[in-house]
Amino acid sequence: MTLPFDGAISDFFENTAPAAVRAAIKANGKGYILDKTYPYDEPLKRKPYEKHLEKLQIELVKLQAHVKASGQKVAVVFEGRDAAGKGGAIKRFRENLNPRVARVVALSKPSDREASQWYFQRYVNQLPAGGEIALFDRSWYNRGVVEKVFGFCTDDQRTHFFNQLPDFEKMLVDEGIHLFKIWLNVGRSEQLRRFLARESDRLKQWKLSWIDVEGLKKWDEYSAAIQETLNTSHSDSAPWTVIRSDDKKRARIAAIQTVLSGVPYDGKDEAAIGEIDRSICGGPDIWDG
Ligand code: ADP
Ligand code: AMP
Ligand code: MLT
Repeated sequence: MTLPFDGAISDFFENTAPAAVRAAIKANGKGYILDKTYPYDEPLKRKPYEKHLEKLQIELVKLQAHVKASGQKVAVVFEGRDAAGKGGAIKRFRENLNPRVARVVALSKPSDREASQWYFQRYVNQLPAGGEIALFDRSWYNRGVVEKVFGFCTDDQRTHFFNQLPDFEKMLVDEGIHLFKIWLNVGRSEQLRRFLARESDRLKQWKLSWIDVEGLKKWDEYSAAIQETLNTSHSDSAPWTVIRSDDKKRARIAAIQTVLSGVPYDGKDEAAIGEIDRSICGGPDIWDG
């Protein structure tokens, strides 16, 4: 199978990427590129990661049982730049859960009919019913970021979206939905390293899209749109959890801990959940462009 943009990522790497990004990737042996400002020199080791993840997944199974029995509703929004690790985090969340309870919502671009509707409408259809956990792989926040960067919406439409957003999310929370908004923050070199890895891996090439290729040239436009979106949409009723995801393992753990800590359920084992690492997981102040 050849992709329509075969070689476009390596081409960007060779010819267009900032020198510092190219140098960081070249200097990197194998594994994640941890930015200079990342609080650890090394990624979390596989053994402690797997041990902790297993404990967290056992807690998720308890959470699932409780949600199902009590008819609670949980919605987790995963956002972040391309290759930030949304799909991987969702996969670890879901791994041992019942797909009928923990459902992934990954909508494609709006159809003409959807584009003519209230912007939030197609997402409302996907909100959890009682006893469900909906995991959003991207969300209504497309309007804040990718639609702005690529001109898929007008500035008026985006302003209108930001105006409606606080009331919209407040309504979800008032309806008893446990709403989590998780922003995965990946550095520029690590993002490009992941794209390069995808380009050369036949099991991962499908993850690359035209948006990813074109988006590489738009790092700063993304930064501005993200900053504005986080500033506008961080509220008491629906706060953001920002997680640095250069080390995917630490990021996945922090994401699961965030949800487990935020929903009451029977038999919660605080020791198994563990302390959330506040050096990589917090509010919008953790985001660093
Ligand atoms: P992903 O990173 O989710 O695999 P892409 O990087 O291809 O997907 O696209 C990013 C997001 O932009 C997706 O949610 C997609 O639906 C959205 N998108 C793509 N084209 C359009 C469009 N023309 N109008 C609105 N949204 C779009
Ligand atoms: P493609 O270039 O066909 O791979 O497009 C990938 C995605 O971007 C599809 O969702 C297209 O609909 C969308 N797209 C491509 N070019 C534009 C454009 N100029 N304006 C809006 N959407 C576009
Ligand atoms: C991922 O790594 O799963 C991404 O966040 C999805 C993407 O490439 O957009």
